[in-house]
Amino acid sequence: MSELAVEVRGLRKAYGPVVAVAGIDLSVRHGEIFALIGPNGAGKTTTLEILEGHRRADAGHVRVLDEDPARNEITFKQRIGIVLQSTSIQPYLTVEETIEQFRGYYPAPRPLDELIDIVGLAASRKKLVRRLSGGQQRRLDVAIGLAGDPELLFLDEPTTGFDPAARRSAWEMIRGLKSVGKTVLLTTHYMDEAQALADTVSIIRRGLIVAEGTPDELRAGQAETVISFRFAGSSDDLPPMAAAATFENGRAVLLTTDPTTALHELTGWAKARGEALEGLSVTPASLEDVYLGLTGDEAQ
Ligand SMILES: Nc1ncnc2c1ncn2[C@@H]1O[C@H](COP(=O)(O)OP(=O)(O)OP(=O)(O)O)[C@@H](O)[C@H]1O
Ligand SMILES: [Mg+2]
Repeated sequence: MSELAVEVRGLRKAYGPVVAVAGIDLSVRHGEIFALIGPNGAGKTTTLEILEGHRRADAGHVRVLDEDPARNEITFKQRIGIVLQSTSIQPYLTVEETIEQFRGYYPAPRPLDELIDIVGLAASRKKLVRRLSGGQQRRLDVAIGLAGDPELLFLDEPTTGFDPAARRSAWEMIRGLKSVGKTVLLTTHYMDEAQALADTVSIIRRGLIVAEGTPDELRAGQAETVISFRFAGSSDDLPPMAAAATFENGRAVLLTTDPTTALHELTGWAKARGEALEGLSVTPASLEDVYLGLTGDEAQ
């Protein structure tokens, strides 16, 4: 068995003149949570659909659980679980009936009660699907994705539209899958989600991977420190090191890769001038800052 659950080299896919995936490599290890993050139209769903065997690649090498998904083998389908970005489930079945229907497609499905518990739908098990809230329907999508007890689960934007509490419980559920040895490949728009969940984060923009690593590595690669303090003047009133400062809500904000020197100059200047540097704060750039820096104004 390969040590990789998913191996992609040079993957390309165009829809007519639109290049959705422009040559990407991905390596997902067995048992990890891997997040593919990027703005609208970056190529996330296209990539996932190719890995699931739902769409043909134009070029590139793709192996998922040591198989070629394009061959559409039934044995392959039984080893993966899929939660699509948008699904259409029968609205007039109940939660239980829906899960039972999907369990029927697999040789060794997970027990019904277990599936209902994992996604937290115990209180709604007799409800009609059409009476579920958006978040509850998404949970049901996940239960369906898990029905065959897959080794590898694909989740396309699992928490879009969730309230903060529902999102936290979805994260717990996804961590739970990892703790029982499953591999999870998810897409998201949310950097906090990638940071909270993923062992490896890959940032995709316009069909290309622009950065990849653990959340810590991604932050370190771009290490910028944010220095800010209350300040009513303009950059002309600050020392030269602060020439690039921006001003937000009565605060001066400085980004630096050398915080020791920057703080030394800033505090030296302040002492000489009798400035108090009120509300001085020094914080590391967040992963969100890194993401926005790499994806630019396409990210929302
Ligand atoms: N079936 C299709 N036919 C033609 N173009 C498509 C099709 N599916 C996607 N595209 C285009 O391919 C590009 C990548 O789309 P894709 O759905 O893979 O992006 P995404 O990263 O999943 O975006 P989102 O965050 O909005 O879900 C976009 O420009 C999109 O308009
Ligand atoms: Mg998508």
